[in-house]
Amino acid sequence: MKNRIVVSKDYTIGSIERELWGSFVEHMGRSVYGGIYDPEHPLADEHGFRKDVIAAIKELNVPIIRYPGGNFLSGYCWKDGIGKNRPVRLDLAWGQIEPNLVGLHEFFDWSEKVGSDVMMAVNMGTGTPSDAAQIVEYCNYAGGTTTSELRRANGKAEPFAIKTWCIGNEMDGDWQICALTAEEYGRKAAETAKLMKWVDSDIRLTICGSSSPVSPTYPDWDRVVLQHTYNYVDYISLHRYYTYTESGRLEDFMSAHTDFDGFIKTVASTADYVGAYKRSKKKMKLSLDEWNIWHTKPTATDADVYNDTSKDRWTVGPRRVENVYDLADAVAFAGLVCTLVNNADRVKMGCLAQLVNVIAPVMTENGGRMFRQTIYYPYQLAIKYAKGRALRLANQSEKMDSDYGETEKIYAACAYDEGEYALFAINKTGEEQECLLDFATESVVMKERIEMKGDPHAHNSFDEPDKVVPAKAACEKGKKAQFGIKLPPYSFTLLRFAE
Ligand code: AHR
Repeated sequence: MKNRIVVSKDYTIGSIERELWGSFVEHMGRSVYGGIYDPEHPLADEHGFRKDVIAAIKELNVPIIRYPGGNFLSGYCWKDGIGKNRPVRLDLAWGQIEPNLVGLHEFFDWSEKVGSDVMMAVNMGTGTPSDAAQIVEYCNYAGGTTTSELRRANGKAEPFAIKTWCIGNEMDGDWQICALTAEEYGRKAAETAKLMKWVDSDIRLTICGSSSPVSPTYPDWDRVVLQHTYNYVDYISLHRYYTYTESGRLEDFMSAHTDFDGFIKTVASTADYVGAYKRSKKKMKLSLDEWNIWHTKPTATDADVYNDTSKDRWTVGPRRVENVYDLADAVAFAGLVCTLVNNADRVKMGCLAQLVNVIAPVMTENGGRMFRQTIYYPYQLAIKYAKGRALRLANQSEKMDSDYGETEKIYAACAYDEGEYALFAINKTGEEQECLLDFATESVVMKERIEMKGDPHAHNSFDEPDKVVPAKAACEKGKKAQFGIKLPPYSFTLLRFAE
């Protein structure tokens, strides 16, 4: 067989943290207003949240959700979202009206309904270190101070006890409200981190790394910012979105994982350089707190990708980047999932950006129906089965050229947990690929085989919500060390084995 993948539980990359599979809700487009929150909807609960959306997200079992932005964050005052009097503001980031009907308390309550923790972000654009320290006090300090008593007066007697915090968002980008240089942000973030941890020493902090590897200041931004903040923070953030390359070829698009891997390794090396420079024993963790497929131009699937922020300007919940994902997107997405698993030693947190309507696995109509996008399924399977330890595979599959350089035709990752293996694999070619799966050290039983295959441009919609869903395929029988598997053209496969 031309392709061979060797699997051994003796070779561990690292532990897969549950929080690797987090997600993101931003006050952007129809993510909150018209997405999770739609008080006029027949299925709205007593607080205005859609129960069908809650159920779809609960089914995913998302461990943690980043909130409230994104670019929105850099102009947002968290105090606008608490108490009885909620100001109506212009959101300069996305050109929309922010009614502040959903704020800290409402979002926290919603996150409990979907069963997720909150990853709270503090504003480093128009916000100050003092604002950041105060929101930690508001959320996490038991009581007896003016700020913590305000929380209690607003109906939350016990602290929210939010553990995970982000210091700003994409502060290197000129699109950011009050963007900063690396020196400016590094200093501000370090002082902010100090104050936040002085309020609550149990919190974990993430600083903004480069907004993407195409940012002109990458990776020096990361180095400078880490030099200021290394001793105060726990994670550095990475953001990365992919679309088609100039060629428009599926093979190139589905090879985005190659670039993703290089990005992660460069940021890890930069962090290690700073750690060495500081003679630090600490290993900086990486938080890929925005990643996804994001098409800025219409594709075969999207009639309109709603990429124009001048449309429906100054309305509540306008359409913003509502991509419709097809099977090809789900396969490219599954490739990114594999890269996260294959870098589980360094990437300890992650957020699929985003969760509802805005480049999202769940889509809604205002007041109407909802559907699960193609990417919902590899995301769900990752949350469910990519856990335990990531195994270092010997991937000896055939090579091909791509716009990202030489890469394998089959890309894979494997998690091992309590006697079970979960192997995620994508076939990036238009031909069926046969592959020998070689369990180097033991015999196993194939328990389950789940595939997403077919027309690469098939997609789900309100009218056909289940057109593209994963399907179970026949398992090879017997307990053995080698399996000859067939991967359909342009497909994603999950194979589960037990000892
Ligand atoms: O997720 C959408 C946007 O992408 C976020 O607001 C921003 O951080 C990134 O550029």
